Amino acid sequence: MEAVLGKFRILTIGLLLFAFAAPPARGHLNLYLNLQEVMRLLGVSAELYYVREGQVNDYALNFVVPVPANVRDIAFTWQSLAGRPLPYSINVQSSDPAVLPRPTLNISQIGEIPTNVQTFSIGMKCSGIRPAEVEVTITIEVILNRASNNITELVFRRKKICMAADQDDNNVDDPMLLETVVPPPAGLITLIVGGILALMLVVILIVIAYCARGPSKRQNHGQPMRTSSFQRLQTNPPCGPYISPSIIAPIHSTLPRKIEPQQPEELHRRISELTVERCRVRLSSLLQEGTFGRVYKGTYNENQDVLVKTVAQHASQMQVSLLLQEGMSLYGALHPGILSVLGVSIEDHTTPFVLYQAMNNMRNLKMFLLEPSCSRSITTIQIVMMSSQLAMALGHLHSHGVVHKDIATRNCVIDDQLRVKLSDSSLSRDLFPADYNCLGDSENRPVKWMSLEALQKKQFAEASDSWSFGVLMWELCTFAKQPYAEVDPFEMEHYLKDGYRLAQPFNCPDELFTIMAYCWALLPAERPSFAQLQVCLTDFYTQITRYV
Ligand SMILES: *[C@@H]1O[C@H](CO)[C@@H](O)[C@H](O)[C@H]1NC(C)=O
Ligand SMILES: *[C@@H]1O[C@H](CO)[C@@H](O)[C@H](O)[C@H]1NC(C)=O
Repeated sequence: MEAVLGKFRILTIGLLLFAFAAPPARGHLNLYLNLQEVMRLLGVSAELYYVREGQVNDYALNFVVPVPANVRDIAFTWQSLAGRPLPYSINVQSSDPAVLPRPTLNISQIGEIPTNVQTFSIGMKCSGIRPAEVEVTITIEVILNRASNNITELVFRRKKICMAADQDDNNVDDPMLLETVVPPPAGLITLIVGGILALMLVVILIVIAYCARGPSKRQNHGQPMRTSSFQRLQTNPPCGPYISPSIIAPIHSTLPRKIEPQQPEELHRRISELTVERCRVRLSSLLQEGTFGRVYKGTYNENQDVLVKTVAQHASQMQVSLLLQEGMSLYGALHPGILSVLGVSIEDHTTPFVLYQAMNNMRNLKMFLLEPSCSRSITTIQIVMMSSQLAMALGHLHSHGVVHKDIATRNCVIDDQLRVKLSDSSLSRDLFPADYNCLGDSENRPVKWMSLEALQKKQFAEASDSWSFGVLMWELCTFAKQPYAEVDPFEMEHYLKDGYRLAQPFNCPDELFTIMAYCWALLPAERPSFAQLQVCLTDFYTQITRYV
């Protein structure tokens, strides 16, 4: 188990740290934190590249790495790939020289980056006069070409935690000794926990920065263009909706709350409003069949195409009432992106059914994605369009104070024109049993689609819908693969808590994956609202269709 988790961890980190790189450019330089250093600072086994083959990872650069009190020097590794040593100059500054005097380097301040791999360290020794957090700014300039003034500037920031003198390290003066000081176990645990937190922060930063990249490719204003030969990923100042946490205020306004039939009277009222005569419904073909649930294609009143959800004769009373209750949970949510209930029939109590309007060969989205012909014909643009339609539908639901709680491709439908609609989750437990799991209780839940707080505390809100929507987008990109197929449902809670997430699907553009990952922020308040998701998706849609 440990080994497997270890592998995931490396995979996840690999993904977090490197997934955002644009296609490789011809590079001149590698600059990174090697394995030992990342382990020491962040408690994870990975290399963290700031510059890989000349390509600068601004997201990594922007992350302020915390330097724990017991770490007294930090190391960088670099190598010139230009075929010759590259001149550099380094400047290190401390925000509080009284607490942390000017940090020291074990290479010269001006020199040449060798063509072989070199590790250098920056010593950070606190004066001990008082405890404080000190910001250390390390500026490295790499001169690619003196004649043309071709210089790249890289700025790294560290937050060094300093203790007061008598608390720990004052007695250790010999720099050689510093190397061998073993941190106490408690410190180590803090370090690892801190590392995980830091890593999550990286994800959030990366994601926010990336999503915030508007469609306009603004250049760093004011600054001279010095980085021409380095392909720099853009970090525009975040635009409006992304910078503040998405605190969603459901609108319980004057709009009638038509949806959520929690009360039996309300359910009965709806049933009587919607009752249709059985004889007007004609079934044409069976689309899906579970142990008791059935979905048919058919017509209503001879001319209207419908989907019919029903249960077999042997279904229990419980299954029957669930079909009705869930089947009408979205009744009244009038929106082009929501599958509307056309009618119900409970004439024959053993086999009631729910009718849905289904023009243009409407069928289940998950089944559609699983068709082999689908993966050959669906493009990224279409995936973005579908996501955007569903985001609008969910925005509509949320604006009426309704939380869906089971967003997944199995609960959506699609027609011949690739228009998608969100539907309720009736019969899904029966039709897609692999998507639901019992975690020791009798409740069968869509564990792999659920946010951490929904798993842990059964807390469902707008933000838990955003999480599931991220998984739905991942399903769209993978043509309905099972999310976290390798992870035991019982492990999911720990898995998510430890910061693991779904990997970037093959062929899924970074921008799209970033939007998904944004939905998987640990803290609900940091996840995007559907209004924000719509903006992100629309921006990306505009970007990718500009050249088409
Ligand atoms: C600087 O120090 C680090 C670790 O303290 C060591 O690995 C590295 O080889 C040193 N570099 C030079 C150029 O002396
Ligand atoms: C900077 O140097 C690189 C590599 O030598 C070169 O490809 C690039 O065009 C140069 N840029 C400028 C502005 O001279």
